[in-house]
Amino acid sequence: MNKSFEFYLKNRLKNIKDYRLKETLYYAIEEGKRFRPELIFSIVKGFNLPEKIAYSYALALEMIHSYSLVHDDLPSMDNADLRRGKLTVHKKYSEIDAILTGDALLTHSFLIAASAKRSVKEKLAVIKELSYHSGINGMIYGQSLDTDNYLIENETEIHKIEDFKTGALFKCSLLIGMHIVKDYKNRKFYEKLGILIGRIFQMQDDLFDVTRSKEETGKTADNDIKNNRNTILNFYSVDELKEIIAIEFSKVYKLLENQKFDISYLKEIIYKMEHR
Ligand code: IPE
Ligand code: IPE
Ligand code: MG
Ligand code: MG
Ligand code: MG
Repeated sequence: MNKSFEFYLKNRLKNIKDYRLKETLYYAIEEGKRFRPELIFSIVKGFNLPEKIAYSYALALEMIHSYSLVHDDLPSMDNADLRRGKLTVHKKYSEIDAILTGDALLTHSFLIAASAKRSVKEKLAVIKELSYHSGINGMIYGQSLDTDNYLIENETEIHKIEDFKTGALFKCSLLIGMHIVKDYKNRKFYEKLGILIGRIFQMQDDLFDVTRSKEETGKTADNDIKNNRNTILNFYSVDELKEIIAIEFSKVYKLLENQKFDISYLKEIIYKMEHR
């Protein structure tokens, strides 16, 4: 656990007028694996800068990610009872609390990003990335495709869902890193890596949904099956999928070759993902 970032997170979420929202918002954001913030930090550290300069953006992104989970779990979406090893917000509190907590996390994230002690130019660029990738042509597009529940006929369409519902926020985290270190000319690399990581991460998630218990994942097991969701497992067996994931990870490591910054931090996170 990154104690310093967790401390920052808690501190930044102190000034909430409504005592109930204060409780539910914190309940919703605590105990995530924090892969998206860590990806931002890994780029920043790779350019020899302190990770702290990225805390506000990382928190904003983690708030958007957490909101997406609170709403994703709602009865009308995935109808999930467990999240991060605890009851989901609507189960523990109420559906109204879950809707408002999600709304609050999303809207407040932009205030957190806009209040960063960084240049106006950089903040505007980062806020654009955040709203683009979490929005109608990003994560929300993926969630819409995912909940369509029509029978998908080919693998490409599954990858499209993965790339938008999950890849978009991973891509966003790497692009935020890019803006901080001003490595704009390398944008294609961050985009490609983000989408690839997101795609693999979602395939792992779908795999764990059938191979791991709820105690292991902290989430309701078999939820995709119950919800009739289209996943990569429509096309492959569990063993085949494990093989595919391993191949995709080797593509990630290949992509990291020949980068001009210190990729050791990035590699560390990716290794952690591969062996989660
Ligand atoms: C869960 O994301 C949703 C997916 C994109 C599969 P994480 O597995 O990163 O969730 P937390 O943040 O660690 O709870
Ligand atoms: C997660 O997809 C995508 C988003 C929340 C944006 P899932 O529905 O598979 O995620 P889990 O399994 O509930 O974490
Ligand atoms: Mg879902
Ligand atoms: Mg879900
Ligand atoms: Mg899932």
